[in-house]
Amino acid sequence: MKIGLLDSGVGGLSVLREIHRLLPAADLHYVGDSAWCPYGAKSPETIRERVFTIADYLLHHGTQILVIACNTATIHGVGALRAEYPLPVVGMEPGVRPAAAITRTGVIGVLATEASLAGEKFHRLVHTHAQGVRVITRPCPRFVQLVEQGILNGPEVDEAIDEAIQPLLAAGADVMVLGCTHYPFLEPVILQRIPKGVQVVDTGPAVARRVASLLASESTDIAPAMQEGRILVETTGALERLREILPRLLPETQVESGLCRLGE
Ligand code: DGL
Repeated sequence: MKIGLLDSGVGGLSVLREIHRLLPAADLHYVGDSAWCPYGAKSPETIRERVFTIADYLLHHGTQILVIACNTATIHGVGALRAEYPLPVVGMEPGVRPAAAITRTGVIGVLATEASLAGEKFHRLVHTHAQGVRVITRPCPRFVQLVEQGILNGPEVDEAIDEAIQPLLAAGADVMVLGCTHYPFLEPVILQRIPKGVQVVDTGPAVARRVASLLASESTDIAPAMQEGRILVETTGALERLREILPRLLPETQVESGLCRLGE
């Protein structure tokens, strides 16, 4: 079984990391659309078009389960993908539901892209799962820029985190939802800069569990893991940049990298 993943850039590698941790023998094929990053500032039509183009590429290269490792792309594209593609599609959305279940102050902060926060699907999510909870949203495009450059700590990161999170803390939020797959790469620093007792929610591990359960039900031929699966990470952007930052994003993982030539 080959699992394909896509994101606007390197952010979805935070999801790949969780899937590899849970399913080390699975073959993973990742495409980061860094040439078009960020999706957060793009129109729903453009986002959908990119997602379909990359999904076609992954399918053409043998993907059997597709993971949209991007909240923005899921919010604007998952319905259409599921309707048109003959394979299981796993999407992701900001963890509003788990956050609403654990807040004690009744206030949660949702960090996500502008496009995600504007999506109808996001509004439905809040309406359905956060009744009686105050949801404060905050786009963090700077986080995406930093992670795309492989900058995961240092003064610029501290500053960007404080700027985004201080207003949420001041409003009483005791749970921070990482509603964009780039943000978990900054989680170690976020945790250092928020008071103890404030929790952070990342839905990457839940997506990995969903993929594992799909694999268990879809495939009858999974042999016990004898060897590590092949991990191929491709980019539509600059390959040298990807090669430079991969060891910072996935320090413990053996990864092959390449250029994604869409249409081939
Ligand atoms: N990683 C993406 C997400 O989960 C989007 C970041 C961007 O391209 O703006 O929403």
